[in-house]
Amino acid sequence: MKRIIKNGIIVTAADTYKADILVENEKIVLIGQDLSDPTAEVIDAEGNYVFPGGIDPHTHLEMPFGGTVSKDDFDTGTIAAAHGGTTTVIDFCLTKQGEPLQNSIDQWHAKSRDKSVIDYSFHLMISEMNDSVLEQLPTVIEDEGITSFKVFMAYKNVFQADDETLFRTLEEAKRLGVLVMVHAENGDVIDHLVKKALKAGNTDPIYHALTRPPEAEGEATGRAAQLTGLADSQLYVVHVSCEEAVTKISEARSKGYQVMGETCPQYLVLDQSYLEKPNFEGAKYVWSPPLREKENQEVLWNALKNGQLQTLGSDQCSFDFNGQKDLGKGDFTKIPNGGPIIEDRISILFSEGVKKGRLTLNQFVDITSTRVAKTFGLFPQKGTISVGADADLVIFDPNIERTISVETSHMAADYNPFEGMKVTGQPVSVLSRGEFVIRDKEFVGNQGSGKYLKRARFGELKQSSQEELYLK
Ligand code: URP
Ligand code: ZN
Ligand code: ZN
Ligand code: ZN
Repeated sequence: MKRIIKNGIIVTAADTYKADILVENEKIVLIGQDLSDPTAEVIDAEGNYVFPGGIDPHTHLEMPFGGTVSKDDFDTGTIAAAHGGTTTVIDFCLTKQGEPLQNSIDQWHAKSRDKSVIDYSFHLMISEMNDSVLEQLPTVIEDEGITSFKVFMAYKNVFQADDETLFRTLEEAKRLGVLVMVHAENGDVIDHLVKKALKAGNTDPIYHALTRPPEAEGEATGRAAQLTGLADSQLYVVHVSCEEAVTKISEARSKGYQVMGETCPQYLVLDQSYLEKPNFEGAKYVWSPPLREKENQEVLWNALKNGQLQTLGSDQCSFDFNGQKDLGKGDFTKIPNGGPIIEDRISILFSEGVKKGRLTLNQFVDITSTRVAKTFGLFPQKGTISVGADADLVIFDPNIERTISVETSHMAADYNPFEGMKVTGQPVSVLSRGEFVIRDKEFVGNQGSGKYLKRARFGELKQSSQEELYLK
């Protein structure tokens, strides 16, 4: 079906201009003034922005964690993502030591294939590096198109890998042309601080934050960055929460190391005091790394503005307050870590970033879409509005005012951490490869219509049907 999106203001990471977009066979085929085609459906975007679909580089949908499973799956999670203007998610595929990587990947395909309403891809967790894993990597990269590997430096005795594993992963990533991602917190130090807190009878949610100090994040970030320099490799630090980590990333970048960083909406607008809410409500705000002292927020905003951090992930990993978060009553270490964020990622960055003058419109598009596509081997098929790109488009009304609430949220969890927060700007319609997923704020998509995306290697273009356009 052909469609023309008329009269909108197109915003890319580079440009802002008024033009019409002709969409056909899933792609953008023409951008110009006063386009007309009698066979095309016309969608009027007057007064609205048209953004490239958001790309969320960091989700955990239906993920087993902390003795339970995250509440939003590829069904509710991707519907909520689409409502929020996200048209692609990259989810973390967990692996187990000694088990074939393909088993884990197959499990992740099984839970996403018939559910996802938008396109999706996977990162792969690396928990050990040995001859058997090395043998499997070419298949993972070439057949599955998985070109980013995640190493956890925290969650001792659960996910945590040692420095040898991290360093070898960096070396192999350099050789194979893929990106290493790290959860950067010093898991050994945290484990010690946690044991001390429990021994002293400190079991409330606030001790989750107090036993994971910002120095533990700064130290691990600096260590991972140094090892990246030593291996001459490439690194992406997920969910950066504090000044200590930003400083280490900036230092590494100024030395020319290829070190990148992501932050998340929760670290930009919430702070550590939320963990002290009475009646165990602090558990709703338990993330790792934890929410930090408020001063860190401006550091993170500035880092996004000046390019020391490049992307915004949701770290979507939702749990009900009743029945999941409350597993940690009387012992903060049993509170499942994470929250429902996927739907509000873009709204919050637009409202708090663009509307408050912290970011330009083009920076906003770069951070929520374009830079993510470039970093993870999806550009230019995804992440921009250009001829030949997938028609993943967000028609965004910059003036709608709304109050975030669990009542109007499409995520499955029984609370919203941003409850009561007023934001300006909302996606009104969202297209995924030329088909409406959200139309006039209502979900009109189809379960299972999302496609699995194989990604290009780090630094390479994801070639689409326009591949002849790119000179080798
Ligand atoms: O608290 C968090 N971040 N939960 C999700 C798992 C992770 O570490 O990203
Ligand atoms: Zn993490
Ligand atoms: Zn995460
Ligand atoms: Zn709805």
